[in-house]
Amino acid sequence: MAEKLRIKVILGSTRPNRFSEYPGRWIFEVLDKREEVEAELLDLRDYPMPFFNEAETPGYKSKPYTHESVANWTAKIAEADAYIVVSPEYSHGYSAVLKNALDYVYQEWNNKPVAFVAYGSVGGSRAVEQLRQVAIELQMVPIRNAVHIQAHWNLLDEKGALKSGSLEPYVRSAEEMLEQLLWWTKTLKRAREEA
Ligand SMILES: Cc1cc2nc3c(=O)[nH]c(=O)nc-3n(C[C@H](O)[C@H](O)[C@H](O)COP(=O)(O)O)c2cc1C
Repeated sequence: MAEKLRIKVILGSTRPNRFSEYPGRWIFEVLDKREEVEAELLDLRDYPMPFFNEAETPGYKSKPYTHESVANWTAKIAEADAYIVVSPEYSHGYSAVLKNALDYVYQEWNNKPVAFVAYGSVGGSRAVEQLRQVAIELQMVPIRNAVHIQAHWNLLDEKGALKSGSLEPYVRSAEEMLEQLLWWTKTLKRAREEA
């Protein structure tokens, strides 16, 4: 049997009561149904990293950064063939904690595809457009299709829990995104192996 495609789902927010956990777990489950995929959910709460303040820049560092969470985070990113970033929209951009996590790593992101699941008043689309620009600078391939969950606050009940089945309408866009993501994952994995 062919080696599985290792895809990491990254939760892009860490605050208490965050929404990201709902779409994060949901897209993880959609992804995990694919035979050819080995999926893992990465929670930035498990990698508490200081604001980037290193003397050497990520692309040119001569030795690994020593902070334990940074080392663990970098090792996780290195393992993957592709990523799905689950992003909030903060002030028409994405979260600072996500930018910090993106900045700490360089080579380990290179030549791999990334897809986005976002939410907000306009489905987090402004955050995703910015993330695509950042992904290109990290030498990644951002996928065209994304999941945009619009006005996600309407999907929560009075206790703040996700109403049952409320992400069902997004399954089709998730599957379409995964089709593209898996095509690029296989293509770039083969190319990296041949390089
Ligand atoms: C600092 C901050 C800025 C926000 N700015 C936006 C915004 O520009 N657009 C938007 O649609 N929602 C915005 N919101 C509302 C978020 O969409 C909502 O709080 C969402 O649940 C945040 O994601 P999280 O729960 O995973 O942290 C903002 C929320 C915060 C905390």
